[in-house]
Amino acid sequence: MTTREEFATLHGKWALVTGAGRGIGRAIALELARAGACVVCNDIDPRTATETAALIHLEGHTAMPYTADVSDRHAVQRMVDDVVAATGRLDVLVNNAGVEPSASILEMDEETWDHTLAVNLKAVFLTSQAVGRVMKAQGGGAIVNISSIAGVRNPLALRAAYCASKAGIYGFTKECAREFAAYNIRVNCVCPGVIVTPMTEAARRNPAIMERWRREIPVGRLGTPEEVARVVRFLASDEASYVTGQAYFVDGGKAMH
Ligand SMILES: NC(=O)c1ccc[n+]([C@@H]2O[C@H](COP(=O)([O-])OP(=O)(O)OC[C@H]3O[C@@H](n4cnc5c(N)ncnc54)[C@H](O)[C@@H]3O)[C@@H](O)[C@H]2O)c1
Repeated sequence: MTTREEFATLHGKWALVTGAGRGIGRAIALELARAGACVVCNDIDPRTATETAALIHLEGHTAMPYTADVSDRHAVQRMVDDVVAATGRLDVLVNNAGVEPSASILEMDEETWDHTLAVNLKAVFLTSQAVGRVMKAQGGGAIVNISSIAGVRNPLALRAAYCASKAGIYGFTKECAREFAAYNIRVNCVCPGVIVTPMTEAARRNPAIMERWRREIPVGRLGTPEEVARVVRFLASDEASYVTGQAYFVDGGKAMH
């Protein structure tokens, strides 16, 4: 019989997941740990990063919480230096941390735009650069960036900064994949649809929005963080050895048109 360990194994690998304190990031951290990886659980919130690492420990796997703001260049470099000093390597990077403020373009202040772009997009550059140097030196690795259908196909109302940042991740992923291919580093992105996490909590309380989503999503329901995490696990593993520069939609078919 085939066990899940035979597929997409990450045994012996070290993974860094940003924004791992809750939602999709926590599910990714747990999924990678269950596949055998030792996981660094980054978050800007020390409490939730520690909680995720504790959940992984409870299941008998290895994890390390690390508090850092991924939009801060110095904090990112310090995190990568500390992790590599402790582990000797970094094989997988998952850029998941994100914020989704709501404002019309006519009303949005500059700080909101800058913060959204810094956390959602600049951080992907900062971590890819710092971790990419480590991966290049060790001979390879895999990077998975979390974009969104909102950046690529289905713009989201009152989320211009968010949509722009997620479209930026899509473009950055492709160029990063091209440049890093020479170093045996694969780079892909995942575009989730509507997923049940704290980020979508307010919208999910609105019956009209829920009804519209059920109509728009061909499979008729929202996705779970675990359904995103399984695709990330595949892309992070050697099972995806010939996959790079791609965008995987995990959206119940919402963005297929
Ligand atoms: N939930 C969805 O429907 C959905 C859909 C498409 C894409 N996404 C993307 O998936 C990712 C995770 O979304 P989620 O729904 O789990 O969100 P969430 O708000 O539940 O979790 C985001 C996590 O990122 C952390 N974070 C925020 N700013 C940070 C920073 N500067 N440094 C480090 N950590 C920081 C938060 O503390 C939080 O733990 C995001 O990039 C989001 O844009 C989510």
